[in-house]
Amino acid sequence: MNAPPLTPDFIPHEWRPLASAHLADGFVTLEWADGMTFAAYSLWLAENAEGFGLELLTRESMLEPRDLPAPSDLMSAGVDDDGALVLGWSGGRTVRVHPGWLRYVADGALVPSSALPEPTMWTGTDFSEPPTLDGSRILDDDDVLDQWIATLVQYGLCRLTDTPTDLDFVGRLVAHVGPIRDTNFGPVWSVQSKPNPDSTAYTGLDLGQHTDLPTREVPPGFQFLHCIENSVQGGWSRMSDGWAVAEAIRAEHPDAYDALTSLEWVFMNRAKDAEHRWIGPIIDHGGKRQPLTLRAFYPVRSAPHMDPADMPRAYESLRVFAEMARDPRFQVAYPFRPGDLVGFDNRRILHGRDAFESGGARLLRGCYADHDDFYSRLRVLRRDRSRPAGPLSYASTHLPSTQGVPA
Ligand SMILES: [Fe+2]
Repeated sequence: MNAPPLTPDFIPHEWRPLASAHLADGFVTLEWADGMTFAAYSLWLAENAEGFGLELLTRESMLEPRDLPAPSDLMSAGVDDDGALVLGWSGGRTVRVHPGWLRYVADGALVPSSALPEPTMWTGTDFSEPPTLDGSRILDDDDVLDQWIATLVQYGLCRLTDTPTDLDFVGRLVAHVGPIRDTNFGPVWSVQSKPNPDSTAYTGLDLGQHTDLPTREVPPGFQFLHCIENSVQGGWSRMSDGWAVAEAIRAEHPDAYDALTSLEWVFMNRAKDAEHRWIGPIIDHGGKRQPLTLRAFYPVRSAPHMDPADMPRAYESLRVFAEMARDPRFQVAYPFRPGDLVGFDNRRILHGRDAFESGGARLLRGCYADHDDFYSRLRVLRRDRSRPAGPLSYASTHLPSTQGVPA
């Protein structure tokens, strides 16, 4: 067999020999033995073929669109003895194209969601505690790393137990996946309570269900909280799937849902040395390809940005949102133990905290990351693995509830 042609990526594609290739009207209709067909456009093939537009070191297409050939310059298409696509261009140029890469595209595997688990909506009846994994070897075991990221993508929530309790671990773990999303709080920050607090930041006040940093055009995709020390009474964390909350509001309180998705607010942080601002609705569906973003942090919701006539219903909708977000039917509540590291989708999952007595010490370390870098790492981890993309299983000691993991 001849050497496989290079592909416009670094993915080790399986060789999937073509059965036939037929050129007509600038398209090459490809067919595989199992009956799969795919219409490949001539200029797209030119851009991505070794020997034409593909730059061999970067695997990027280096053909500026004005330098593309005419579709009619593609003179012939066929399949060689190895099953590769062979294209003959005017001027005598002949190129081979990897049939496994063509099949990968034909199967729809190029779209961003294809290598990631399907997000699964959950409520408090699905879980009695967060989906949980043993995190003691996560930096050394890519199977655990894969399952952790996949769980974060699927449920928007995953707890690791038995991680090292040094102050830098959460930063080390996130940096092991991709860049930390730095903010005006620094790359890694502390949530700390002290026996004699000198600031409200160090008190044990109840925190309602919220998402962090709605003051940003793109709030951080994931948030991580790592428990270093906890000897206080109370202070349980509460998580609810904001996706499920939003859908329940849509079904049960359609007027509130309309207000929450359409009426805009100005969000502004109140720091002495930072002034981030953004305008958006509480439930932000964004554009066609953008994920749900909940802008639900009341301490930085600055002012209604709407017709005064809409303000009464806007405030009423906030009350509905807060009550639904607090409803136990959507919630998972759990204590933080030293070594626990909880990650969650900061744009989808609502997090909050019960009040606690300030008689003990409580120290969490936290940081943020963007969705893209976690998705990227999972795709790379899965390049060389055959891994089922279905629901995940957890260690039996950590099964979330008698209902188990949603199918
Ligand atoms: Fe928060």
